[in-house]
Amino acid sequence: MRSLTVLWLHKPDVDDAAVMPVVEHGLSDAFRDFCHDAFNVRMPLEYPPLKLVTVTTLEELPHALFIDGDCRKGLTEGGDDTCLFLVDDCIFSDRLGGLPLKDWLKAYIPAIPRVVVTYPGHAAVIVPQRRWAKKAIEVFTSPALYHDRLVHLFKAFWLPRFWSALKQYVQVKAGTNWHTPGHNGGNAFAASPFLRGLHEAFGSMIFRSDLSVSVESLGDLSSPEIQTPLSEAQRMSSEIFGSALSRYVTNGTSTSNKAMLMTLLKPGEVVLVDRNCHKSVHHAIVTSGAIPHYLPSRWNARLGVWGPVSLWEIARELEANAARKPRLVILTTCTYEGVLYPVWEVARLCEQAGVLFYADEAWAGYMNFHPFYSRGDEATGRTMRYNAVNETSGAHFAVQSTHKTMAAFSQASMIHVSMRFKALLEEDASPQFRWLRRRFAMNGRGSFEKFTHDLHEFLRYWHSTSPHYPFLATLDVAGVQMRLEGMKLIDERLKWTAEFRARVAAECGLPESSCFAGLKDIAGGESDWSAAGYFKDPLKIVLMLKSPASCAAFKKSLLKSHIQWEKSTAVTVLFLVTVGTVEEHFEDLFRVCRLNRDLIGRPEASETDLSVSQAVAGQPVVLPHDAALCDGELVTLEAAVGRIASQFLVPYPPGIPVFVPGLRVTESMVELIRKVIAEEGVGSVHGLFCRGGHAPYYVEVLNKDEEKRLEKD
Ligand SMILES: Cc1ncc(COP(=O)(O)O)c(C=O)c1O
Repeated sequence: MRSLTVLWLHKPDVDDAAVMPVVEHGLSDAFRDFCHDAFNVRMPLEYPPLKLVTVTTLEELPHALFIDGDCRKGLTEGGDDTCLFLVDDCIFSDRLGGLPLKDWLKAYIPAIPRVVVTYPGHAAVIVPQRRWAKKAIEVFTSPALYHDRLVHLFKAFWLPRFWSALKQYVQVKAGTNWHTPGHNGGNAFAASPFLRGLHEAFGSMIFRSDLSVSVESLGDLSSPEIQTPLSEAQRMSSEIFGSALSRYVTNGTSTSNKAMLMTLLKPGEVVLVDRNCHKSVHHAIVTSGAIPHYLPSRWNARLGVWGPVSLWEIARELEANAARKPRLVILTTCTYEGVLYPVWEVARLCEQAGVLFYADEAWAGYMNFHPFYSRGDEATGRTMRYNAVNETSGAHFAVQSTHKTMAAFSQASMIHVSMRFKALLEEDASPQFRWLRRRFAMNGRGSFEKFTHDLHEFLRYWHSTSPHYPFLATLDVAGVQMRLEGMKLIDERLKWTAEFRARVAAECGLPESSCFAGLKDIAGGESDWSAAGYFKDPLKIVLMLKSPASCAAFKKSLLKSHIQWEKSTAVTVLFLVTVGTVEEHFEDLFRVCRLNRDLIGRPEASETDLSVSQAVAGQPVVLPHDAALCDGELVTLEAAVGRIASQFLVPYPPGIPVFVPGLRVTESMVELIRKVIAEEGVGSVHGLFCRGGHAPYYVEVLNKDEEKRLEKD
C-alpha cells in the first residue's frame, strides 16, 4: 500500500526539522480515523497513510507534480498521488507561469482540495469558496489538540455523503421494512431454499441497501432541491467535477442525454449534431421536436472507426446555418476510440455564434483528475483542459457515463452544467444569447434557478421513481475516489499503458505507431489534427491487425486466454483502460500480443469504402418528430429505398443510427445495414423487424399519404 502525498507550499522555517514529522504524524492520525468512519477501513499503524512533502518556492511546484510545458512528459515518476495541498498564506497570492497560484492549480489539478495555512500576524487572505479552506497553523503543528478539527476537515473534502448515510441507515437504523422492493432487504432470497445461493453470492449488503424512496432521510432523486444526503452528494460531485451543477442519473448517459436535450431544445429549433452521436442523442432530438442538421461525420474506412468533426467544418456549418438560429452543437468530445476535441476552441466558435455547446463525454469522465489532460496555449499563455466542463473554458454541458471508466455500477451517469453556462445565463449581456436569457427567465432575467428547475422536471420525466440506491452510492463514491486518489489512478494507468505499448512494439519489431492507432490514423485526412488541438487519449488502446483474417485469429487467441475486449472492427481491437484496470491485466494482454506478434501491424490500405460515408450523408426531409409519430407502413428493407424512414435502424455497437426518422432512405443506407447483418448478425441492428432472426427483414417507413402531407409542411 502506498501513502498519499500532502504537498505543502511552505515558507521555510528554522524549526521545520522538528515540526514536519509532527505535522505528518498528526495528518496521518486524523486520516486514519476519517477512513475508519467514512470507508470502514482501518489503515495500518506501521506507516503514514499521508506523506508530507514540502515545496518551498512556487517554481518547484510543477516539478514536484511532474508537470512540464505540455504536461505530457516526465509524469509518473513520483509526486503523482497528491490528494491535498496546504498553502502558506504568504504564498497564496503569488504567481506561477504567469497565473495567480489559485488559477494555476485550477488549470492543472482542479479536483484536489486546498487549505490555506494562516499564521499569526500575517495579513488576512480571502480564499475562494469552492475547494478551498482556511486553517490556522497551530491546527497542523499541534495536531493532537486539533485532531477532531482535522478529521472534520477531511470529512468536508472526502466524505461520500450519500454512501455514509445509506450505510448508517442500513447498519443502525433499519428495522422492519413495509415498503418496496419486494425482496425486502433480501429476505425473499435468503429465506428461499432455492435462492439462498444467490443471496450468498451477492452478499447481504447489496440487498439491505436496496431501499425505497419511502426512506425520506436519505433523499429522493426526484426532489434534488430538498437538502438530503443525496442532494449533498450531488453538490459535492459538482465541486469535484468542476461544474456549477451536477446531477446523478440512473439508466445511463442514455437518460442523461434525453433529460438534458429535452431541457435545452424546443420544437422547431435547429441543432447541429454529429451523426456519429450516440442513439440516445438522436432519440432525444426526435422527442424534443427539434430539427437536426448533421455535421459531416468522418468515417475511416481503413480502420472501420469514426473520426472527429474538424474545427473548420464546425465553423463552416455554424456560419452556413446562422440564419436558422441553431441553439446547440452536440459532439462526442471523447470518441469511442479516444479522440479528444479541443473543447475550448469549439466553445469559442459556438459562443461567437450564440450557440450552446453540448459535450457527450460518456467515455472519459476521469479527465478532470490529471494534468495530462490539459494543454498550454502559447499564444495566450492560458492552460486549457480537455475535460469538457471545467473552470477555465470549455463546453456548457457534459454528460458522463461514470460507470464506463470509473468505479460505479453499470447505468450510473452524471450530468454536469458548467460555470460558464451559469455566467452566460446570469451575467452575460451579449445580444447573441438573448434567446437563452429569455428561455430560462425569472422576473424578466436569465435565471440559473429556472434552468435547474426545468432540468429537474425533465429528469422527473425520464428517471424511474424507484432508483437503485446502490447505484447512487457508487456515483457518490466514484467522485470521492477520484478526488482522493484520481491523480494516482490515472497516472499509474498512463504509465502502464505507455510501457505496454513500448513492449508490444519491441516484440513486433515495429514502431508503436504501426501497432496502435493514433490520432492521425483515426481522424484521417491531411489536416494537422494535433496542431488544431485534437488529442488521442492513450487510455483507449486501439490495437491494429494486419488484415481481417489476422484480426479474427487475434480475437480467437484472446478468447482462449479469457480476455474480453471492449469493441472490435475488421482490423482493430479496442481495449479500455479504466480505474479498475490493474497492472496484471497488461501482462495477460501482452502475452497474447507476443504469441500473435506476426498478426499485429498497420492494415493494408483497403479499397476506399465509401458505403458508410454515403449512408450517413443525408439531411432529414421531414421533421424527425413527425416522422416518428405518424402513421407508418412496414416494408422490406429493400423496398424502403426512396421512402422516408419513420424509425431508427442502429447498428450496435457503437450505436450510430443509419436510419433516422425523417431521412429519405438511400441505396447506401440499405447496403450498409445488409453488410452489418452479414458480418455481425441480425441482432446487431437495433430496430429491424424480422421473425426468428431470419430474412426477410422489415422496417417502417411513412405511408404515402403521410409522406405527402408532411413533405408539404
Ligand atoms: C457516446 C456515447 N454516449 C452515450 C452513451 C450511452 O451511455 P450509457 O450506456 O451510459 O447509457 C454511449 C454508450 O455507448 C456512448 O457511446
